[in-house]
Amino acid sequence: MIPVKSAREIACMRDAGKITGEAIAAAARAIEPGITTKAIDAIIRKSIEDRGATPSFLGYRGYPASSCISVNDVVIHGIPGDYKLVEGDIVSLDVGAFYKGFHGDSGATYGVGRISAEAQQLIDVTKQCFYQALAVCHEQSRVSDISRAVATYAALHGYGVVEAFTGHGVGAELHEEPEVPNFVSDRRGPRLVKGMTLAIEPMILMGGRPDIRVLKDGWTVVSKDGSLTAYYEHTVLITDGKPELLTAREDDAPLPPIAVAPKGVLT
Ligand code: MF3
Ligand code: CO
Repeated sequence: MIPVKSAREIACMRDAGKITGEAIAAAARAIEPGITTKAIDAIIRKSIEDRGATPSFLGYRGYPASSCISVNDVVIHGIPGDYKLVEGDIVSLDVGAFYKGFHGDSGATYGVGRISAEAQQLIDVTKQCFYQALAVCHEQSRVSDISRAVATYAALHGYGVVEAFTGHGVGAELHEEPEVPNFVSDRRGPRLVKGMTLAIEPMILMGGRPDIRVLKDGWTVVSKDGSLTAYYEHTVLITDGKPELLTAREDDAPLPPIAVAPKGVLT
């Protein structure tokens, strides 16, 4: 069953989403060479708790921190620690906040100081993958249309897309139905209906393959070929008109969709 949220529940999710976005913005302001990922996690935790919310990830299936902080070849679920960011790194922040019974889930990849043109392109294309997906977030679509939008735009740039992890419904639970894959399969997926809230999260590898490996800590997901990776996520409300970004934040301007390949190229 895919939960459909009432107006009251959506109002709560807006609050949770706002708190999530504010924590990401606070962390993003602190990104600079020399800061540890643990220190960034502490900023995220404080920002969430100062607003009367709790970090969704802390203790989730035994996860030991308030955020996931993933550097370079780490695509998702990096555990904050003693690593000090270095100029040229790219760092993905993934944050969840639980407030009034509901979760927000969001994140993005940032450069540390000056980064290479290739790294910037990966970050930009990954963000655009999300906005390509957002453009099909209406009641005429299915979940598979989101998947195709992401996959098509990533493939256009020769990038790989993680298949072993997906986006997901989000609400009273951090992970709800439906799964929201970033790749095309023969499953059409459920129709999008007003009141659904989805965490859409392209996870993109600069190498052209989807291959990932999970490190011995049981969490850290890295690209198998060691290539750079980027990620971008928002909690999205499906409406009977335009979708609403529940985790919108000030440091993160939305992008208009780009018209790409003729229909059917990647089906
Ligand atoms: N945003 C992540 C996701 O949707 C949540 C991280 S898993 C956790 O899968 F354990 F860190 F919470
Ligand atoms: Co998520």
